[in-house]
Amino acid sequence: MAQALKKIRKAVIPVAGKGTRLLPLTKVIAKEMLPLGRKPVLEIVVDELVSTGITDVMFVISESKSSIPVYFMAYPGVDVSWTVQSEQKGLADAVLCAEEYVAGEPFLVALGDSVISQFGPRHPTSRVLDCFENTDAQSVIIVQKTPRAESHRYGMVHPKRWDGNERFEIDLLVEKPAVEDAPSEYAIAGRYAFDPCVFEFIRKTPPGAGGELQITDSIGLMLADGRPVWGVPLMGEEIRRDIGTFPSYFEAFMAACLSDPEFAAIASTICSREQKPE
Ligand code: G1P
Repeated sequence: MAQALKKIRKAVIPVAGKGTRLLPLTKVIAKEMLPLGRKPVLEIVVDELVSTGITDVMFVISESKSSIPVYFMAYPGVDVSWTVQSEQKGLADAVLCAEEYVAGEPFLVALGDSVISQFGPRHPTSRVLDCFENTDAQSVIIVQKTPRAESHRYGMVHPKRWDGNERFEIDLLVEKPAVEDAPSEYAIAGRYAFDPCVFEFIRKTPPGAGGELQITDSIGLMLADGRPVWGVPLMGEEIRRDIGTFPSYFEAFMAACLSDPEFAAIASTICSREQKPE
Protein backbone atom coordinates (compact mmCIF):
# COMPACT_ATOMS: atom_id res chain seq x y z
CA MET A 1 0.00 0.00 0.00
CA ALA A 2 1.32 3.47 -0.85
CA GLN A 3 2.48 5.41 2.23
CA ALA A 4 0.03 8.29 1.60
CA LEU A 5 -2.84 5.83 1.95
CA LYS A 6 -1.51 4.70 5.33
CA LYS A 7 -1.43 8.17 6.90
CA ILE A 8 -3.98 8.23 9.73
CA ARG A 9 -5.84 11.45 10.56
CA LYS A 10 -9.19 10.16 11.87
CA ALA A 11 -9.92 8.56 15.23
CA VAL A 12 -12.98 6.77 16.57
CA ILE A 13 -13.63 6.89 20.33
CA PRO A 14 -16.23 4.42 21.61
CA VAL A 15 -17.94 5.94 24.66
CA ALA A 16 -21.31 4.18 24.73
CA GLY A 17 -20.62 1.82 27.67
CA LYS A 18 -23.04 2.03 30.60
CA GLY A 19 -20.49 2.39 33.40
CA THR A 20 -22.53 0.15 35.71
CA ARG A 21 -19.53 -0.63 37.90
CA LEU A 22 -19.30 3.06 38.85
CA LEU A 23 -22.90 3.49 39.99
CA PRO A 24 -24.31 5.71 41.40
CA LEU A 25 -21.75 8.21 39.96
CA THR A 26 -22.70 7.23 36.40
CA LYS A 27 -26.47 7.64 36.87
CA VAL A 28 -26.32 11.12 35.32
CA ILE A 29 -22.62 11.60 34.46
CA ALA A 30 -21.08 9.75 31.51
CA LYS A 31 -18.24 7.58 32.84
CA GLU A 32 -15.85 9.18 30.35
CA MET A 33 -16.70 12.67 31.68
CA LEU A 34 -15.55 11.86 35.22
CA PRO A 35 -12.56 14.00 36.13
CA LEU A 36 -8.98 12.83 36.44
CA GLY A 37 -7.71 15.81 38.42
CA ARG A 38 -8.60 18.91 36.44
CA LYS A 39 -9.87 17.33 33.20
CA PRO A 40 -12.44 14.71 32.22
CA VAL A 41 -10.89 11.37 31.21
CA LEU A 42 -12.12 11.90 27.67
CA GLU A 43 -10.42 15.28 27.32
CA ILE A 44 -7.11 13.65 28.25
CA VAL A 45 -7.74 11.06 25.51
CA VAL A 46 -8.64 13.73 22.92
CA ASP A 47 -5.55 15.79 23.84
CA GLU A 48 -3.42 12.65 23.42
CA LEU A 49 -4.83 12.09 19.93
CA VAL A 50 -4.33 15.73 18.91
CA SER A 51 -0.70 15.48 20.10
CA THR A 52 -0.16 12.56 17.70
CA GLY A 53 -1.48 14.50 14.68
CA ILE A 54 -5.12 13.32 14.64
CA THR A 55 -7.33 16.06 13.17
CA ASP A 56 -10.80 14.43 13.19
CA VAL A 57 -12.50 12.55 16.00
CA MET A 58 -15.80 10.63 16.03
CA PHE A 59 -17.43 9.75 19.35
CA VAL A 60 -19.67 6.69 19.33
CA ILE A 61 -22.09 7.59 22.13
CA SER A 62 -25.23 6.11 23.65
CA GLU A 63 -28.46 8.11 23.69
CA SER A 64 -27.88 9.21 27.29
CA LYS A 65 -24.41 10.69 26.61
CA SER A 66 -25.26 13.86 24.71
CA SER A 67 -23.15 15.82 27.24
CA ILE A 68 -20.07 14.53 25.39
CA PRO A 69 -20.56 16.31 22.04
CA VAL A 70 -21.70 19.42 23.95
CA TYR A 71 -18.45 19.50 25.96
CA PHE A 72 -16.30 19.08 22.84
CA MET A 73 -18.17 21.54 20.61
CA ALA A 74 -15.55 23.86 19.04
CA TYR A 75 -12.69 22.05 20.80
CA PRO A 76 -9.35 23.51 19.64
CA GLY A 77 -7.21 21.52 17.21
CA VAL A 78 -9.71 18.89 16.15
CA ASP A 79 -12.99 18.48 14.25
CA VAL A 80 -15.44 16.53 16.37
CA SER A 81 -18.41 14.43 15.18
CA TRP A 82 -20.58 11.88 16.94
CA THR A 83 -22.95 9.05 16.20
CA VAL A 84 -25.31 7.07 18.42
CA GLN A 85 -24.92 3.33 18.98
CA SER A 86 -28.53 2.38 19.65
CA GLU A 87 -27.82 -0.91 21.39
CA GLN A 88 -24.61 -1.85 23.26
CA LYS A 89 -23.62 -5.02 21.38
CA GLY A 90 -19.87 -4.83 21.98
CA LEU A 91 -16.74 -2.94 20.95
CA ALA A 92 -16.72 -4.32 17.38
CA ASP A 93 -20.30 -3.10 16.90
CA ALA A 94 -19.33 0.34 18.26
CA VAL A 95 -16.49 0.58 15.72
CA LEU A 96 -18.87 -0.51 12.94
CA CYS A 97 -21.07 2.51 13.78
CA ALA A 98 -18.21 4.70 12.47
CA GLU A 99 -17.91 3.04 9.04
CA GLU A 100 -19.57 5.86 7.12
CA TYR A 101 -17.49 8.49 8.94
CA VAL A 102 -14.23 6.63 8.26
CA ALA A 103 -15.13 6.59 4.54
CA GLY A 104 -12.48 4.13 3.40
CA GLU A 105 -9.53 5.74 5.23
CA PRO A 106 -7.28 4.03 7.78
CA PHE A 107 -8.14 5.15 11.31
CA LEU A 108 -7.31 4.92 14.99
CA VAL A 109 -9.56 3.57 17.75
CA ALA A 110 -8.99 4.92 21.28
CA LEU A 111 -11.06 3.59 24.17
CA GLY A 112 -12.60 6.59 25.91
CA ASP A 113 -12.26 5.15 29.41
CA SER A 114 -8.49 4.50 29.22
CA VAL A 115 -5.57 6.87 29.51
CA ILE A 116 -1.95 6.06 28.74
CA SER A 117 0.79 7.98 30.51
CA GLN A 118 3.50 9.66 28.48
CA PHE A 119 7.18 9.81 29.42
CA GLY A 120 9.43 11.55 26.95
CA PRO A 121 8.58 13.80 24.05
CA ARG A 122 6.11 11.56 22.18
CA HIS A 123 3.01 9.74 23.34
CA PRO A 124 3.11 5.91 23.00
CA THR A 125 0.18 6.16 20.55
CA SER A 126 2.61 7.85 18.11
CA ARG A 127 4.42 4.51 17.92
CA VAL A 128 1.17 2.84 16.80
CA LEU A 129 0.92 5.34 13.95
CA ASP A 130 4.63 4.86 13.08
CA CYS A 131 4.21 1.08 13.02
CA PHE A 132 1.07 1.29 10.88
CA GLU A 133 2.70 3.65 8.38
CA ASN A 134 6.07 1.91 8.16
CA THR A 135 5.22 -1.79 8.12
CA ASP A 136 2.79 -3.98 6.18
CA ALA A 137 0.41 -3.94 9.21
CA GLN A 138 -3.32 -3.74 8.54
CA SER A 139 -3.93 -3.43 12.26
CA VAL A 140 -1.64 -2.29 15.10
CA ILE A 141 -2.47 -2.63 18.80
CA ILE A 142 -0.85 -1.10 21.90
CA VAL A 143 -0.13 -3.86 24.39
CA GLN A 144 1.02 -3.84 28.00
CA LYS A 145 2.82 -6.59 29.93
CA THR A 146 0.30 -7.79 32.49
CA PRO A 147 0.38 -10.63 35.04
CA ARG A 148 -1.19 -13.77 33.53
CA ALA A 149 -3.51 -14.02 36.54
CA GLU A 150 -5.28 -10.89 35.20
CA SER A 151 -5.70 -12.19 31.64
CA HIS A 152 -9.47 -12.75 32.16
CA ARG A 153 -9.86 -8.94 32.19
CA TYR A 154 -8.13 -8.27 28.85
CA GLY A 155 -7.64 -9.30 25.26
CA MET A 156 -4.30 -11.15 25.19
CA VAL A 157 -1.98 -11.45 22.16
CA HIS A 158 0.94 -13.69 21.18
CA PRO A 159 4.12 -12.22 19.64
CA LYS A 160 5.30 -14.17 16.58
CA ARG A 161 8.33 -12.12 15.52
CA TRP A 162 9.96 -8.99 16.94
CA ASP A 163 11.46 -6.48 14.53
CA GLY A 164 14.41 -4.25 15.45
CA ASN A 165 12.14 -1.42 16.64
CA GLU A 166 10.69 -2.87 19.85
CA ARG A 167 7.47 -4.02 18.22
CA PHE A 168 6.25 -7.40 17.04
CA GLU A 169 4.05 -9.24 14.60
CA ILE A 170 1.12 -11.00 16.27
CA ASP A 171 -0.05 -14.51 15.38
CA LEU A 172 -2.82 -15.08 17.95
CA LEU A 173 -5.34 -13.04 19.94
CA VAL A 174 -7.75 -14.24 22.64
CA GLU A 175 -10.36 -12.07 24.36
CA LYS A 176 -10.47 -12.49 28.15
CA PRO A 177 -8.92 -15.98 28.34
CA ALA A 178 -8.67 -18.09 31.48
CA VAL A 179 -5.15 -17.92 32.90
CA GLU A 180 -4.19 -21.31 31.40
CA ASP A 181 -5.29 -20.16 27.93
CA ALA A 182 -3.43 -16.83 27.96
CA PRO A 183 -1.06 -16.95 24.95
CA SER A 184 1.48 -14.55 26.57
CA GLU A 185 1.66 -11.71 29.10
CA TYR A 186 0.81 -9.03 26.54
CA ALA A 187 -2.62 -7.48 27.11
CA ILE A 188 -4.43 -5.24 24.63
CA ALA A 189 -4.28 -1.72 26.05
CA GLY A 190 -6.99 0.38 24.41
CA ARG A 191 -5.44 1.88 21.26
CA TYR A 192 -5.70 0.34 17.79
CA ALA A 193 -4.92 1.38 14.21
CA PHE A 194 -6.98 -0.16 11.42
CA ASP A 195 -7.07 -0.47 7.69
CA PRO A 196 -10.71 0.09 6.68
CA CYS A 197 -10.90 -3.60 5.66
CA VAL A 198 -11.62 -4.24 9.36
CA PHE A 199 -15.32 -3.51 8.73
CA GLU A 200 -15.53 -6.52 6.40
CA PHE A 201 -14.25 -8.70 9.26
CA ILE A 202 -16.45 -7.05 11.92
CA ARG A 203 -19.46 -8.01 9.85
CA LYS A 204 -18.31 -11.66 9.95
CA THR A 205 -17.59 -11.65 13.71
CA PRO A 206 -19.82 -13.93 15.80
CA PRO A 207 -20.68 -13.03 19.43
CA GLY A 208 -17.70 -13.84 21.67
CA ALA A 209 -16.70 -13.28 25.31
CA GLY A 210 -19.67 -12.03 27.35
CA GLY A 211 -21.97 -12.64 24.35
CA GLU A 212 -20.67 -9.41 22.77
CA LEU A 213 -19.15 -8.64 19.37
CA GLN A 214 -15.48 -8.36 20.31
CA ILE A 215 -13.03 -6.33 18.20
CA THR A 216 -10.31 -8.79 19.33
CA ASP A 217 -12.21 -11.52 17.45
CA SER A 218 -12.55 -9.32 14.35
CA ILE A 219 -8.76 -8.79 14.39
CA GLY A 220 -8.39 -12.58 14.77
CA LEU A 221 -10.42 -12.97 11.55
CA MET A 222 -8.08 -10.48 9.83
CA LEU A 223 -5.13 -12.65 10.88
CA ALA A 224 -6.84 -15.82 9.63
CA ASP A 225 -7.27 -14.06 6.27
CA GLY A 226 -3.50 -13.37 6.10
CA ARG A 227 -3.67 -9.66 7.07
CA PRO A 228 -0.58 -8.65 9.10
CA VAL A 229 -1.31 -7.48 12.67
CA TRP A 230 1.36 -5.88 14.85
CA GLY A 231 1.75 -5.13 18.58
CA VAL A 232 3.45 -2.06 20.06
CA PRO A 233 4.34 -2.60 23.74
CA LEU A 234 4.28 0.11 26.37
CA MET A 235 7.82 0.64 27.64
CA GLY A 236 9.53 1.72 30.87
CA GLU A 237 7.24 3.77 33.08
CA GLU A 238 4.47 3.99 30.46
CA ILE A 239 1.23 2.62 31.84
CA ARG A 240 -2.41 2.31 30.78
CA ARG A 241 -5.07 3.08 33.35
CA ASP A 242 -8.80 2.73 32.97
CA ILE A 243 -11.66 4.00 35.05
CA GLY A 244 -13.85 0.89 34.80
CA THR A 245 -14.02 0.20 38.53
CA PHE A 246 -13.68 2.32 41.66
CA PRO A 247 -10.16 1.03 42.53
CA SER A 248 -8.91 1.67 38.97
CA TYR A 249 -10.66 5.06 38.91
CA PHE A 250 -9.09 6.03 42.24
CA GLU A 251 -5.64 5.03 40.95
CA ALA A 252 -6.07 7.00 37.72
CA PHE A 253 -7.43 10.01 39.64
CA MET A 254 -4.60 10.06 42.15
CA ALA A 255 -1.95 9.54 39.47
CA ALA A 256 -3.40 12.54 37.57
CA CYS A 257 -3.30 14.73 40.69
CA LEU A 258 0.23 13.60 41.59
CA SER A 259 1.49 14.50 38.10
CA ASP A 260 -0.38 17.81 37.79
CA PRO A 261 2.12 20.43 36.62
CA GLU A 262 0.76 23.02 39.08
CA PHE A 263 -0.79 21.08 41.98
CA ALA A 264 1.36 17.91 42.30
CA ALA A 265 3.01 19.11 45.51
CA ILE A 266 -0.37 19.87 47.12
CA ALA A 267 -1.73 16.46 46.03
CA SER A 268 1.33 14.74 47.47
CA THR A 269 0.99 16.59 50.81
CA ILE A 270 -2.69 15.57 51.00
CA CYS A 271 -1.81 11.93 50.27
CA SER A 272 0.82 11.74 53.03
CA ARG A 273 -1.44 13.55 55.51
CA GLU A 274 -4.36 11.18 54.85
CA GLN A 275 -2.26 8.01 55.07
CA LYS A 276 -3.24 6.17 58.24
CA PRO A 277 -0.38 4.51 60.17
CA GLU A 278 -0.50 0.68 59.81
C1 G1P B 1 -11.59 -3.97 26.14
C2 G1P B 1 -11.06 -4.94 25.09
C3 G1P B 1 -9.90 -5.76 25.64
C4 G1P B 1 -8.84 -4.83 26.17
C5 G1P B 1 -9.44 -3.88 27.22
C6 G1P B 1 -8.42 -2.85 27.73
O1 G1P B 1 -12.18 -4.71 27.19
O2 G1P B 1 -12.12 -5.79 24.66
O3 G1P B 1 -9.37 -6.57 24.63
O4 G1P B 1 -7.76 -5.57 26.74
O5 G1P B 1 -10.55 -3.15 26.67
O6 G1P B 1 -8.01 -2.01 26.72
P1 G1P B 1 -13.20 -4.05 28.27
O7 G1P B 1 -12.34 -3.33 29.28
O8 G1P B 1 -14.09 -3.12 27.52
O9 G1P B 1 -13.93 -5.20 28.88
